[in-house]
Amino acid sequence: MSEEAVTVPGEDPPYTPDFDISKPTIARVYDAVLGGKDNFAVDREGAAIMLKYLPGAREAGLDNRAGLERGVAYMAKQGIDQFLDIGAGLPTVRNTHEVAQEINPDAKVMYVDNDPIVLAHGRALLAKNESTSIATADLRDPPSILNHPDVLKMLDFDRPIGLMIIGLIMHFHVDEQPGNWIRELVDALPSGSYLHITDFVDTGRPEQDAFQRSCLQALGNGWSRTPEEIEAHFQGLPLQPPGLDFISRWFPEDPDREVPAVEDLEDHQRIMMAGVAYKA
Ligand SMILES: C[S@@+](CC[C@H](N)C(=O)[O-])C[C@H]1O[C@@H](n2cnc3c(N)ncnc32)[C@H](O)[C@@H]1O
Repeated sequence: MSEEAVTVPGEDPPYTPDFDISKPTIARVYDAVLGGKDNFAVDREGAAIMLKYLPGAREAGLDNRAGLERGVAYMAKQGIDQFLDIGAGLPTVRNTHEVAQEINPDAKVMYVDNDPIVLAHGRALLAKNESTSIATADLRDPPSILNHPDVLKMLDFDRPIGLMIIGLIMHFHVDEQPGNWIRELVDALPSGSYLHITDFVDTGRPEQDAFQRSCLQALGNGWSRTPEEIEAHFQGLPLQPPGLDFISRWFPEDPDREVPAVEDLEDHQRIMMAGVAYKA
């Protein structure tokens, strides 16, 4: 285990991590790709690999953040006032609680991530926000989320919830059957809830293949899936208009909006798709 002093805003004396910084983590590499500062040399090396294979990797990440924002805004405008954001990531611009609470100041947001650095930074950011909390738990173990005392304190599972699994499922191989974990989570949601997902897509394009290879080299995981495979993540729940689409064409809050034609998309705009489904 290698340690380095890190300064976490609001933590005095500086927080000393008990996590391994000799290997890249998904949260920190993603932070480095987005141009954030909460990462180490090993993570920046991972980000550099991704940028080498896909020079627009940062823009692809920003596209994903834009998709997150649109999905949260859509759900909040449908009346959702509780969000469960799994694989929250390190705080960045326009976090889920900021978007949701701009639309409904009383909206509650529960962040979950399995990387302890996310908890440390999230706690510092959220110290004064009683409607938002963060817990360390694991998508691969749904009861670790559903029975977490902080989750149960923040969210009322008898009222509709916006479940978000954004930029996370690609990190699990098909053999791990992530659909089983999603199903368990969806089963715990009451009717009137939404499921918002973004994932790496494979429509046979070379840039998608290059990006997958960069993730496997940088992180040891990161698999793209066909649109049909991504649609299956939604467990049969009906997708809301405009359905599943490349994120820069996906505007659930304005489904009739004019969007760029698929053939006009740039390489980085063909990396991820988004969708939001409704549990009746
Ligand atoms: C690529 S980031 C996405 C962050 C954010 N959702 C977004 O889309 O901008 C994936 C996040 O999922 C977290 N993660 C990875 N495996 C996880 C797991 N098994 N359970 C919960 N979180 C996980 C990582 O630590 C990381 O913060």
